[in-house]
Amino acid sequence: MNLVAARDLYDLRRRVLRNNDPAVNVANAADEDPEARHFAGYVDGELVVSASFFPGEVPGVLQLRYMATDPRVQGHGYGAAVLAAAERHLGRDGATRLWANARDSALGFYRRLGWRVIEGSEHISVETQIPHTVIEKDLDR
Ligand SMILES: CC(C)(COP(=O)(O)OP(=O)(O)OC[C@H]1O[C@@H](n2cnc3c(N)ncnc32)[C@H](O)[C@@H]1OP(=O)(O)O)[C@@H](O)C(=O)NCCC(=O)NCCS
Repeated sequence: MNLVAARDLYDLRRRVLRNNDPAVNVANAADEDPEARHFAGYVDGELVVSASFFPGEVPGVLQLRYMATDPRVQGHGYGAAVLAAAERHLGRDGATRLWANARDSALGFYRRLGWRVIEGSEHISVETQIPHTVIEKDLDR
């Protein structure tokens, strides 16, 4: 797993999370925040998994966004691997907690990896119109 520039992830974000719609903007204003961190994993030189983390107002708490695995290799452990690598890296850098607006269809994935679901936080994403729920995970120190 590598730390990468956000622009390296735009193609995967678009294909996996935005129905490959060329009209959708997959760049985020926060992508270039000096404290944002973008992780990618590769198979045979091809970028197949991504996760981005953004700082907020509370020090040590980061938001996971754009978690995506290429459909051709979903279910092969790459999503779990990129999150494990990111947690180690971010924890070493002082992060204590991660949170995300998770797609309800992916909640089982996050639960398996130790994230907890925030009761009552279910909502429809303004950006995608897809049901989401807030999840969080404390990092071991
Ligand atoms: C959700 C997603 C990121 C998971 O990535 P992945 O690389 O396929 O996941 P992994 O292979 O690492 O799976 C890890 C474990 O979670 C399970 N899992 C994966 N996706 C799951 C899902 N949607 N629901 C329930 N369990 C799931 C796997 O079976 C595996 O379990 P195991 O350890 O018992 O074998 C990927 O399916 C994806 O990109 N989906 C479309 C986009 C999306 O929903 N992104 C998340 C936005 S919040």
